[in-house]
Amino acid sequence: MSVSVSSASPESRDVADLSSHDAFVAGVPHRTFETLRREDPVAWFEEREGSGFWAITRHADIVAVNRNFRRFSSRQGIRLEEMSEEERVARLTMMEHDPPEHTRLRRFVNRGFARPFIETCEKRVRDLVGDMLDKALVRDEFDCVAEIAKPLPLKMLASVLGVSEEDGAWLAAKGDEMIGNSDPDFTDHVVDRVDTDAFRLMPFRSPAGAEVFEYAERQAEVRRRQPRDDVISLLLEPLADGKPLDDLEFKNFFTLLIAAGNDTTRYAIASAIHVLANRPPLFEQLRGAGERLWSTAVEELLRTSSPTMHFRRTATEDCEMHGRTIEAGDKVLLWFISGNHDESMFEDPFRVDLTRDPNPHMAFGRGGPHACLGMWLARLELRVVLQELAGRVRSIRQAGPEARLRSNFINGIKSLPVAVARE
Ligand code: HEM
Repeated sequence: MSVSVSSASPESRDVADLSSHDAFVAGVPHRTFETLRREDPVAWFEEREGSGFWAITRHADIVAVNRNFRRFSSRQGIRLEEMSEEERVARLTMMEHDPPEHTRLRRFVNRGFARPFIETCEKRVRDLVGDMLDKALVRDEFDCVAEIAKPLPLKMLASVLGVSEEDGAWLAAKGDEMIGNSDPDFTDHVVDRVDTDAFRLMPFRSPAGAEVFEYAERQAEVRRRQPRDDVISLLLEPLADGKPLDDLEFKNFFTLLIAAGNDTTRYAIASAIHVLANRPPLFEQLRGAGERLWSTAVEELLRTSSPTMHFRRTATEDCEMHGRTIEAGDKVLLWFISGNHDESMFEDPFRVDLTRDPNPHMAFGRGGPHACLGMWLARLELRVVLQELAGRVRSIRQAGPEARLRSNFINGIKSLPVAVARE
């Protein structure tokens, strides 16, 4: 499919098709983003199955659009896929709401993911990572995604939600089917390759959504009889204004947590290890790190990993940006991964500088009401994995090619063989 850009765009389109999942399999098309930031910061892309979208690629523009939720709304969906009104209503989560309704919904779970609570989880994270490394480091070579990056977030999510680790593993597989709905390794129902119409009312247009709904219903029944101290119970409690989530709201909320809280952290950990396994001086630097370096290093590794590459908004009125007219109803994609490499915001953006400070990255979004709910949990997991690794391993290097997720939405390394020398 050819990429057609607005008439005023540069003719030399050495530009990857950002609408295509395949354009991201060999790696993030950074050169394209660089060109767009420089020459066409509000660029139009056609889609094979969709009305096309504007790509916003500069850091400052992404913040401005994200902040202006009245003009750039989340209500029509936050992924590229276009939904009928029936689908939209069936699949609504807080992500597809603007304030004030978004604010109301988010209050149900804020407490369970707030920094003070997450900090109390550090010992649990450290114990889990310790066990995983004990097992993995028996060998000199292992797949660090299968051994660490994948199991840790699912175990922690299970613990925060209040379900068993076995259920957590099952939920993570369902999360993969939903979020990885464009990758044949994760689902038989690849959205752009087979007819998924039968599942259009399910989260992510995926049969896995139906299974997660059933699971959520069972968990709710148990907690309605006996509330517990966990996030599922928080979802079922009415807020101070007295209005509880209705049944569909609850199930969609639960599914959102499964989908958003699992693979993103996995890919952030995988990407960080990928960086360190290919740049020995950086790993060496971390081995001697103090508190301050650890906090800047985690932010820098999040910036470079950018697991969630874009989110969508929809224009509610006509407006001008950089000489382009965005019309009401147009899809507008905020390319966080591009903003994270914007040379006007980050000096030498492709250099990994573990001491970079300030580091206003947008791996968790920036400026808008939807800033990532799980950012403190994700930061904690990433830091502890790297600290434990640096404490037990003298050197680490990539031992074979990595496998990448087929997706223009999630920047993910599915497997990454590494070779280590222990202390
Ligand atoms: C490194 C890991 C993670 C990354 C890179 C990430 C990234 C993001 C991004 C970019 C957004 C949207 C921001 C915006 O639109 O402005 C978001 C929202 C969200 N994230 Fe994360 N996330 C991560 C981990 C998690 C975890 C562990 C959870 C826990 C369940 C989580 C739950 C959510 C939820 C529920 C939202 C929607 C928030 C809202 O609508 O108010 N995320 N995340």
